[in-house]
Amino acid sequence: MKQICLVCQNVDCKNRGSEQLMKELEKQVADRKLTNVEVRSYICFGACQDGPNIVLYPEKSWYAGVKMGDLNDILSHLAGGPDVKRLDKIDSSLKELIYQLLDTGVF
Ligand code: FES
Repeated sequence: MKQICLVCQNVDCKNRGSEQLMKELEKQVADRKLTNVEVRSYICFGACQDGPNIVLYPEKSWYAGVKMGDLNDILSHLAGGPDVKRLDKIDSSLKELIYQLLDTGVF
């Protein structure tokens, strides 16, 4: 199944570097030939103060406060490795809300 890597590109996350994170993810996904992974921008996950935020869907992993130095571990996860527990910081009720929204196909 295709894994979509949603990278928030709204103001707060952008101010914390999400544009560069997204560019680097796109490059690395191509370089590593992760053909089942698609990197896409997302409008806002509602956890702006905890950004940059990246959500993997349909797997439903949410990584918050992502820095360039975290991308290698996230890419390893996308390639089938373990999830990156240190970046799993978001309240479960907000996660559920956003996952339900994504389940409706709104992204
Ligand atoms: S600005 Fe990224 S979650 Fe809102």
